[in-house]
Amino acid sequence: MTKADGGKPANTELKPDTKVTIGGRNPFAHHGYVNTPVYHASTLLYPTAEDFLARRNRYSYGRRGTPTSEALEKAIQEIEGPACAGVALLPSGLAAISAALISVLQAGDHVLVTDSVYAPTRKFCDSVLARYGVATSYYDPLVGSGIASLMQPNTRAVFTEAPGSLTFEMQDIPAIAEVAHGRGALVLMDNTWASPLYFKALEKGVDLSIQSGTKYIGGHSDLMLGAVSANQEALARLKDTVFAMGLCVGPDDMNLGLRGLRTLAVRLARHHQSGIAVARWLEQRPEVLKVLHPALPGDPGHAIWQRDFTGACGLFGVVLKPVRQEAVLALLNTLTLYGMGASWGGFESLAIPYDVSSLRTATNWAPGGPSLRLHIGLEDVSDLIADLERGFAALAAAK
Ligand SMILES: Cc1ncc(COP(=O)(O)O)c(C=O)c1O
Repeated sequence: MTKADGGKPANTELKPDTKVTIGGRNPFAHHGYVNTPVYHASTLLYPTAEDFLARRNRYSYGRRGTPTSEALEKAIQEIEGPACAGVALLPSGLAAISAALISVLQAGDHVLVTDSVYAPTRKFCDSVLARYGVATSYYDPLVGSGIASLMQPNTRAVFTEAPGSLTFEMQDIPAIAEVAHGRGALVLMDNTWASPLYFKALEKGVDLSIQSGTKYIGGHSDLMLGAVSANQEALARLKDTVFAMGLCVGPDDMNLGLRGLRTLAVRLARHHQSGIAVARWLEQRPEVLKVLHPALPGDPGHAIWQRDFTGACGLFGVVLKPVRQEAVLALLNTLTLYGMGASWGGFESLAIPYDVSSLRTATNWAPGGPSLRLHIGLEDVSDLIADLERGFAALAAAK
């Protein structure tokens, strides 16, 4: 091992926290500077006509890759581990989802999608995929190996998301993958909640693992970014699809992704720790019916989480005991440290109300009371709990 090798010991599997700091970096290819330069690039010039005709260059065109895009792809690939053959970068998490689906499906195919899926994924399947002759059916996220009975002769893909980002059901990914592969279908997963740090999707049987980099990779609520990590079987079609559709990410956004990635491990550890502290506190509150958090021992998904995951992020659900809507709104309006808005994964805490009962088509969503989704950020956890305490006082006053 030498510093010029990027500090990577040969034949040693480095720990995840180390990988996020060195992944994709090669300082001595860039005059020793720690970070890869941000290449603002479209046209690439060749020194001679012969070189142009033979396309003799490491790169060919801005849209098809630069040292900046390679650094981010490689960093994510290293974090995913040896089962990852390559990564495609996309301009948002939703673009990563749609590109991954398009890369494995064609007219006449059928795809099985978890009923707990992120709603815009459902919209993409029901609108664009349907228009191009791909049929979608939705399945109970808890189906496990029971997915076998839902497979059709033309089922080419099974889309998973664990836990669901509003309802937090866990899925038995290895069991689903075993059945899907036995029937010639590929498995896709939206792995944004755990990130490749806390769930090694490709090692657990997923062929295409999707990240909204907008969330924890960015980590600062100032970036839209997506990534798809592929195993060897799925990589060529993924890359062909992304190139054919002309999808690429701007250099400054890739740089923000790289910058965010370097602190991903410390941030996620804090989100995990504070999230569990707030979730445990909420479990004890008389106003709370249940907390939806797979890392809590009482959660129905806990056994799977414990078996397959190595950590949790700061996102979970709370179901309140039945109460007037005005009281729930009073709680939310009283919170000062929890913002109200879409997305999550930044340094700041969020709290939003949600009701997915009208979206479900394969299962019923009837949690028993009004539901909130909390994102626990990097603030001091005692301040976050005190803020919720004030919110519960407002709820009681408005009951
Ligand atoms: C679970 C999940 N997947 C994907 C996305 C889409 O990511 P983006 O907003 O980067 O398109 C989101 C965004 O909220 C999400 O929550």
